[in-house]
Amino acid sequence: MTKIKEELERAYKSIEDRIPFIPEIALVLGSGLGEYAEDPEFHIEAEIPYGEIEGFPVSTVSGHDGRFVFGTVGEKKVVCMKGRVHYYEGYPVTQVVLPIRLMRRMGAQVLLLTNAAGGVNPSFKPGDFVCITDHISSFVPSPLIGPNEDDFGVRFPDMSQVYSKRLRLVLEHCAEKCKIDVKEGVYVQLSGPNYETPAEIRMVAKLGADLVGMSTVIEAMAARHMGMEICGISLVTNMACGVITGAKLSHEEVKETAAVAKERFTMLVTSFITNITIGD
Ligand code: HPA
Repeated sequence: MTKIKEELERAYKSIEDRIPFIPEIALVLGSGLGEYAEDPEFHIEAEIPYGEIEGFPVSTVSGHDGRFVFGTVGEKKVVCMKGRVHYYEGYPVTQVVLPIRLMRRMGAQVLLLTNAAGGVNPSFKPGDFVCITDHISSFVPSPLIGPNEDDFGVRFPDMSQVYSKRLRLVLEHCAEKCKIDVKEGVYVQLSGPNYETPAEIRMVAKLGADLVGMSTVIEAMAARHMGMEICGISLVTNMACGVITGAKLSHEEVKETAAVAKERFTMLVTSFITNITIGD
């Protein structure tokens, strides 16, 4: 057994008795979006702080609580990551994706990744939701480097459709029903924790990125390796450095925009979760 699988099994065994159901959907809540797990639509059944899981990384960032919250939304069983850990916190990428692998181990088939992102595409504006159509991973290490765990997936996994077309259509339908404008775009993950320079943003724009952030991509790669079906939603909390205004960026701005978008986010995510069918 590979070290990665050993770590995963150890983490799983340490909380197995506290998992209330086999989740159908795994949901990762991004910066400032963690309150979704406290919404009345989310009927909480159990909570497990990351600190109580063996070998688990614990987030150190303000605005990032660290716990799994299990609950139902409509008829759907959901495990939700309230807070994620980031590569910039100093954890190796394999540790960063351990929570994703654990949710897969619990049985989740669909993964909804959400994040706060900087808008690179000048047609975006703060407060916009963007459905992720593809990503650029080239600036962060792959979480699949090292001995391959064949029980998780193949050595050379296909990444031609990381973000499921089927789920994108469901999201589009829900956005229409909720009268929420959802755009589409390519997300690039940079390491952080510093925000980018204007020159770096010009570079990622030339490479085809519409959104920039410090998470999501390595999680999507680990999930795709394990055969999960993925949907990604970014909330544009600010325009990326040097796009449109010369204003300085701060984590406060990111959290403020997320707070304003909270209601629309809740509506969209609830509609998405209730409308998807699992296992088609
Ligand atoms: N850059 C990187 N990550 C981010 C940004 C940004 O502008 N906004 C929110 N997360």
